[in-house]
Amino acid sequence: MRSMTIDSRAEIESAFAGFPSGVAALAADVSGAPVGLVSTSFTVGVSFEPPQVLFSVQRSSRTWPTLRRAERIGVSVLARGHEAVCMQLASRSRDRFAGLDITRGEGGALLVSDAAMWLECSLHNELDSGSHTLVILTVERVHVGDGAEPLVYHHRGFRDLARIASAESRGRAAVEAAA
Ligand SMILES: Cc1cc2nc3c(=O)[nH]c(=O)nc-3n(C[C@H](O)[C@H](O)[C@H](O)COP(=O)(O)O)c2cc1C
Repeated sequence: MRSMTIDSRAEIESAFAGFPSGVAALAADVSGAPVGLVSTSFTVGVSFEPPQVLFSVQRSSRTWPTLRRAERIGVSVLARGHEAVCMQLASRSRDRFAGLDITRGEGGALLVSDAAMWLECSLHNELDSGSHTLVILTVERVHVGDGAEPLVYHHRGFRDLARIASAESRGRAAVEAAA
């Protein structure tokens, strides 16, 4: 464990990168055009009754002011193998939806095919907090995946839960063999 100062945004970003998370794609058709972004600040379990989820969006986002107008926002929990999809949906220069395999939900929600889980959400509340806006979404419909492993993001890189699990079971086997 090492202490560090948090004098700059780069330092705090580097420290926060040590927190592992899933990767969510938030997307919808708004006025006939697809808009979306990806988020590792996305989290579930903010409320169970009603079911609510949360993510935090940079106040400088050019996408959120449009996406927030959608009747329904599709949230796709990206799966193992979606690394390129993630980078495309976060790109500032490329068409975020070109060639992307998308399913349409209700109210314009756009859902990434083969995701680990889909949620169709409506906007509940927003709270400006520092550089970001906390966004609470109410979950209107849930589609649980058919066992696809979720993509994991940690220290600015993608991780593979299956590899972590197999390394873990190799570790357990070694411990059991040594016992
Ligand atoms: C792995 C990853 C995670 C991201 N997580 C967030 C996030 O939680 N919140 C956010 O505002 N932007 C996040 N971004 C950036 C957005 O996806 C998007 O690139 C950014 O909002 C700039 O585009 P915009 O101006 O169109 O919104 C992330 C990007 C990547 C690659």
